[in-house]
Amino acid sequence: MIDPKVSSLYQDLREVLLTHAQIQARIEEMGRELTEAYSGCDLVCVCILKGAALFFSDLVRAIDLPLHMDFMSISSYGSATKSSGVVRILKDLDKDIVGRHVLVIEDIVDTGLTLSFLRENLVARGAASLKVCTLLDKPSRRKTELIPDYKGFVIEDKFVVGYGLDYDERYRNLPDIGVLKPEVYTL
Ligand code: IMP
Ligand code: MG
Repeated sequence: MIDPKVSSLYQDLREVLLTHAQIQARIEEMGRELTEAYSGCDLVCVCILKGAALFFSDLVRAIDLPLHMDFMSISSYGSATKSSGVVRILKDLDKDIVGRHVLVIEDIVDTGLTLSFLRENLVARGAASLKVCTLLDKPSRRKTELIPDYKGFVIEDKFVVGYGLDYDERYRNLPDIGVLKPEVYTL
């Protein structure tokens, strides 16, 4: 794993907000909660690419149930750091979800616009239940009613990168989650 002490990527961070160890400990707790909640259900875990890929791969390994994994890729039009709420499906689910219990796994809920669109879209397909699990929640920026059913951490209104989250497609491979130095945005 990348060592923060010698990594050039880490030099772009102003601070580390959540360490890999903190993230992993929280995922263990969430895994136990989800194992209990979905016991006996036909569970489909849906990873929202690309941001949730790392969280998803750790979380499904903490859920001790015979679940299915599926993947969706969506693009929300907007700038690198602001969501517009106009969402396009780039890659859809492989299998249909009629009568199944769907857990959408996201990296972060910011304005909530992306997930509101997605929730409506998936509910219309006839899932038995549809819940949202996000690693990070930034409630101060919410523009919709959306409340995640499961969340790892509530964070302040700061733009974060690492552990799947990107700025202009970079920093997804950082093991920790941190805040970029302001000068990095203007490079
Ligand atoms: P929303 O539609 O505003 O809730 O935006 C959700 C999406 O915006 C997330 O899935 C991320 O891809 C991106 N996003 C929002 N906040 C951040 C952040 O702090 N860092 C990196 N990506 C973010
Ligand atoms: Mg994303």
